[in-house]
Amino acid sequence: MTRVPLAAPGRLGASEREAIDTAIARVLENGPWILGAEVVRFEEEFAQYLGSTPDSATSVGPAGEVVGVGNGTDALVVAFTALGLPAGSGVLIAANEGGYAATAARLADLEPVVMDIAESTFAPAAATAQAAWREGVSALVVTHLHGEATDVAELDAWRQQRNLRLIEDCAQAHGARHDGRHVGLRGDAATFSFYPTKNLGTVGDAGAVLFADPLHAELARALRQYGWRERFSVDIPGGRNSRIDPLHAAILSARLAFLDGRNERRRAISAQYRAALAGSAARIHGDPETTVAHHAVVVTQHRDELAAHLASDGIDTDIHYPHLLQEMPGLGLTAVATPNASRARDQILTVPCFPEMTADEVDRVTDSLLRWARDVG
Ligand SMILES: Cc1ncc(COP(=O)(O)O)c(C=O)c1O
Repeated sequence: MTRVPLAAPGRLGASEREAIDTAIARVLENGPWILGAEVVRFEEEFAQYLGSTPDSATSVGPAGEVVGVGNGTDALVVAFTALGLPAGSGVLIAANEGGYAATAARLADLEPVVMDIAESTFAPAAATAQAAWREGVSALVVTHLHGEATDVAELDAWRQQRNLRLIEDCAQAHGARHDGRHVGLRGDAATFSFYPTKNLGTVGDAGAVLFADPLHAELARALRQYGWRERFSVDIPGGRNSRIDPLHAAILSARLAFLDGRNERRRAISAQYRAALAGSAARIHGDPETTVAHHAVVVTQHRDELAAHLASDGIDTDIHYPHLLQEMPGLGLTAVATPNASRARDQILTVPCFPEMTADEVDRVTDSLLRWARDVG
């Protein structure tokens, strides 16, 4: 029995493969191989895309300025640094975010402050942020996990009262919208990863930051290249080498045209699973209206049994994420109770949901979930 994998980014459709091949050939032939026109083009196209509304075929204007960097973790570090968060200050980060924002906070000399999530959304809310808040906090990170467009309106109002910066981590939510607006537009900065399995991915590592304020974007362009404002002059502290490669920028420009279609396919797959579980005690997490289904996450009291059942049907699963921030030794955090995040962590199971799945693979997962729902309820 062939297994149904959790992801298979190398399985490209013919037209997308052709677009990628063309992009690679263009960079090889024309160069440059560091920064240059391909990077500028992708940054501008992605900003236009993020500014677009569902009813406009073309953009209504760029959402802000995009700065391409080496990966999604650096995107967070560069965002924190460009926004000028004071060294040693606290950053509110949800316990279930997987450790990415917390790692970036540590790299930027900031203190992750763990907050719980709301029971229903698995995302932070104004009440959970307020409960975790303490003096010395300078920023709030909202991670749009699993492709869910978290409603940040209330959190945004709350953080403005407290004068905090808002960073939206959109690494799993390219193309997700809430109330017709793309995720990432309320924050001072929104960060993206283009890791191969992301909704918009490349053939290696890449990332980007969207800034609302062009002055922050200008700083970030210096920070991604040693802190240079001028060549060979380290003008800004906190710089690094984290340029997006033009090869990846060209590939991402080519693939941007496919993103909405790929997201629709993800949504259709997760809708099929949702229907299979209807009437049972298990459910697919999230709002079918606003998700771009980066992960299809089953929520069930019997997670380990479901994982074993799917495995016996040859279906791969995973847990996003098995450890809360305060449990990760490398982050050096003190124990804190986040009951909603703990409960959610024990009930979630990610099942295969990616645009390259064959109809047969989707049916195998659906059928396995249906049998589970019928037998276990
Ligand atoms: C939510 C989230 N934030 C940040 C990152 C880090 O991105 P990268 O792996 O490109 O550094 C990831 C992913 O892998 C992620 O899923």
